[in-house]
Amino acid sequence: MFTTKTKLWYVDKNVDEYNPTVMEIGDRLRKGEVIAFPTETVYGLGANALDSNAVRKIFEAKGRPSDNPLIVHIASFEQLNELVTHIDEKSKQLMARFWPGPLTIIFPSKGKISELVTSLPTVAIRMPDHPIALAIIRAAQVPIAAPSANRSGKPSPTKAEHVWSDLHGRIDGIVDGGNTGYGVESTVIDVSGDEPVILRPGGVTIEQLEEVIGEVEIDPALVHKGEKPKAPGMKYTHYAPDAEMWLVQGEEEKVIQEINRIVKEKSLEGRRVGVLTTKDHQDRISETAYKVLAYGNKDDLTPFAANVYDALRQFDKDKIDFILAEAFPETGIGLAIMNRLKKAAGGNILKV
Ligand code: TXA
Ligand code: MG
Repeated sequence: MFTTKTKLWYVDKNVDEYNPTVMEIGDRLRKGEVIAFPTETVYGLGANALDSNAVRKIFEAKGRPSDNPLIVHIASFEQLNELVTHIDEKSKQLMARFWPGPLTIIFPSKGKISELVTSLPTVAIRMPDHPIALAIIRAAQVPIAAPSANRSGKPSPTKAEHVWSDLHGRIDGIVDGGNTGYGVESTVIDVSGDEPVILRPGGVTIEQLEEVIGEVEIDPALVHKGEKPKAPGMKYTHYAPDAEMWLVQGEEEKVIQEINRIVKEKSLEGRRVGVLTTKDHQDRISETAYKVLAYGNKDDLTPFAANVYDALRQFDKDKIDFILAEAFPETGIGLAIMNRLKKAAGGNILKV
């Protein structure tokens, strides 16, 4: 069924919408092709949001459940006005501070976009802060629906090669613009109720949001098991590596001891153990571990976020069959990192 020849373009970060390659990509998108491109969070798989045939190809290529609505990407405020019936005060404040950037806002929809993008009365919209993404959207001259460009259930792509390994032969093209920045997806927020609610933690932190609009809640379903999440996509398992994975949470010294104890135990059983930690602890992990990946440190987890999906893919490549990851405090970018790690681990947490 999938016999598409996937084109590959290398595009420089300093492009604008008049670059000939970008104009070609924009044309192809407008005419209904599905093409992956970099954003400041992760690679997105784009299609013309007004064209149902194009949007259907996104769901088919990813193997994505059809009840999981897509984020619409825009490059100007005029485009926003064409898509939504109303823009409230809080959304205006958030857009002024965080757009372009990794914040997706839920708006009441005018119903102009394909009903395959969202069958809800609302539409999720963001303006990405990436020169290539913005240039492509401007060149396309239409709003672009774009979920993360991975096979459904796999870690999101932060490099063009991740997209290639998941989707080549299934999509029309991939724009290689190097590594993405944040490494975790945008924060999704709904400000329509009395209290603003984060539906998915991401690149913009709750602390940054609260500086602008006051108290912000986190969708209870993201914290307690058993509740139904408000963002349909959050109910699915995600980012899952092939290996069994556990998070180890607790006081620093105990966490290291416990990781090393399990590394030795599992290695003796003949398993290939991978450890995901920070630079602070890298040198203290037992040498019996098959692979240790370490990014960032206690005071700055930004590099950890930027590399976490790549790390999960590296473990798969090395046929790691047991992963231990250090857990982090759920503040700042730590909230988004922990949300993704918990999903990758299928909720397996070891408290020490
Ligand atoms: O950083 C990102 O947001 C990336 C890049 C490519 O822009 N995109 C992305 O899209 O992560 P996706 O489709 O993987 O995630 C969209 C999330 C899902 O959890 C979905 O359920 C939620 O947004 N969502 C979309 N429309 C919604 C709506 N109308 N109401 C509530 N949640 C919605
Ligand atoms: Mg995704």
